[in-house]
Amino acid sequence: MEMRKIDIKALDENFIRNIGFEYMLVCSGSRDSFNMMTASWGGVGFVWNRPCAFVMIRPERYTYKFMEENPHFTLSFLGENRHAYTVCGTKSGRDTDKAKEASLTPLELSEGAVSFVEARLALVCRKIYADGMRPDCFLDESVLSAWYGGKRGGFHKLYIAEILSAYAK
Ligand SMILES: Cc1cc2nc3c(=O)[nH]c(=O)nc-3n(C[C@H](O)[C@H](O)[C@H](O)COP(=O)(O)O)c2cc1C
Repeated sequence: MEMRKIDIKALDENFIRNIGFEYMLVCSGSRDSFNMMTASWGGVGFVWNRPCAFVMIRPERYTYKFMEENPHFTLSFLGENRHAYTVCGTKSGRDTDKAKEASLTPLELSEGAVSFVEARLALVCRKIYADGMRPDCFLDESVLSAWYGGKRGGFHKLYIAEILSAYAK
């Protein structure tokens, strides 16, 4: 079945469940040079009078470089394709052809943004705001100590982006 552009206002998804428990792929770059990773932190809402999404990417991810260098990214929801989420969430595009290993077929959507033929839902996003998280801004110390420092990884960069278009099967 082919992906079709749908009205963003017609989306009636539960994004808490979709992102937190189904997961999503964050993909940035062009058809010739892109990278994607599994993400389970992020959200979808309404900011600056427009539909927006936010994602949190640690700087050590290869995807981070693509997020920094490109104006757009996609959020792709694969449904029950656990294999693809495992590959894209445990291996790095630095040393693995993740699309091949996860059996994902790149699909160019509007703005030249890349999603995947296998997705059930894809959102094309345009970055508006980005900022690195800082230790002094955490109001709950238990979250800071649970998720940052030592081997836990660097401080996420928060990207807030306008959702330009949505595609579904
Ligand atoms: C279920 C799951 C959720 C994840 N969510 C995030 C996330 O929201 N932000 C993040 O920076 N990394 C997240 N990761 C880790 C990246 O997906 C993982 O480090 C990936 O291998 C990075 O690939 P890359 O180096 O090709 O970018 C998650 C991993 C899994 C398995």
